[in-house]
Parts: sequence; structure tokens; C-alpha cells
Amino acid sequence: MRVTFLWLKALHILAVITWMAGVFYIYRLFAFHVARRDSADATALLRVMERRMLRVVMWPGAALSLALGLALLGMRMDYLSQHWFQLKLAAVAGMLAYNAHAEYTARRFARGEYFLTEVQNRLMHVVPTVLLGVIVVMVVVRPF
Ligand code: HEM
Repeated sequence: MRVTFLWLKALHILAVITWMAGVFYIYRLFAFHVARRDSADATALLRVMERRMLRVVMWPGAALSLALGLALLGMRMDYLSQHWFQLKLAAVAGMLAYNAHAEYTARRFARGEYFLTEVQNRLMHVVPTVLLGVIVVMVVVRPF
């Protein structure tokens, strides 16, 4: 039982790292996209890169992190009554909302609707930085 739990946790952390690789890169692509919006070649390339980052890295990474997280939770249902885990889940919900906003941004940019400035795209990285900080501190330190 313990070995299964540890293998699931190792795979969970690998899935989370994959997801975060996309989370911390996607708005940099959007920033470049806004900066090069007058170049047809550059915007065509960035559209493909953004779509692949979402389809190949971010959504599969999120789905695997969630599935493995639920499998772990299934072995430790007592966590649901603990505040550190409840706050972790709230921050994970925030991370999923950030992922959905990136999907929405990619679709609007693909239509040439640049509703975020270059600076706003670069500032977007503050969001997952704070959320990931909360998640890791909650699950490792368990302060309450
Ligand atoms: C961005 C999303 C997530 C991140 C960054 C994350 C991060 C982590 C980390 C670093 C650990 C290892 C903690 C340790 O060994 O002390 C862990 C364990 C765990 N995670 Fe996640 N996780 C995420 C999403 C989820 C989700 C969605 C669930 C459940 C629905 C979940 C459930 C668990 C459980 C039950 C453990 C095992 C805790 C233990 O060691 O007893 N995680 N997570």
C-alpha cells in the first residue's frame, strides 16, 4: 500500500512539473505575439506554438496531475477535513482557472484580438507563482 502511494506521488509530482513547464511559459509566448503582431510569419508561428503548448503540455499535464492527485486522495480521504489540503485544492482550482484563461487568450489572439498588452502578458506570471507557492507550502509544511 505504502509503495503504491509513493509511486503515485512520484508520478503526481512529475505530472505537476510538466504542467508547470507550460504554465510558466505560455504568457511569454503571448507577450512575443503582441510585440510581433504586425508580422504575418511571426504571428503564424506563435499561434502554432501556443496551441501546441496548450494541447500537448498544459491540458494533458493538468489532467494527469488531477487524476493522480485524486488517486492519492482516494488513499487518504482524511485529508479532506484538513485545512492545509482544503487551501491546496482552492489554489489548484485557481491554477485551473489560469489554464482556462490561457486557452481563452490563445483563441482570441488567433483571431487577431490582442486584448492584453505585452506588459500585461508578462505580469500574468505572478498568478501561478503565488498559487504554486501556496500549494507546495500547504502540502509539504502543512501549517494548519
Ligand atoms: C498544481 C497542482 C498541484 C501541485 C503543484 C501539487 C503538488 C504536490 C506535491 C509537491 C506533493 C508531494 C508532497 C510531499 O511529498 O510532501 C503532492 C502530494 C499530494 N497531492 Fe498534489 N499537487 C497538485 C494537485 C493536486 C490535486 C488536484 C490533488 C487532489 C485532488 C492533489 C492531491 C495530493 C495528495 C493526496 C498528495 C499526497 C500527500 C502526502 O504525501 O500524504 N494534488 N502534491
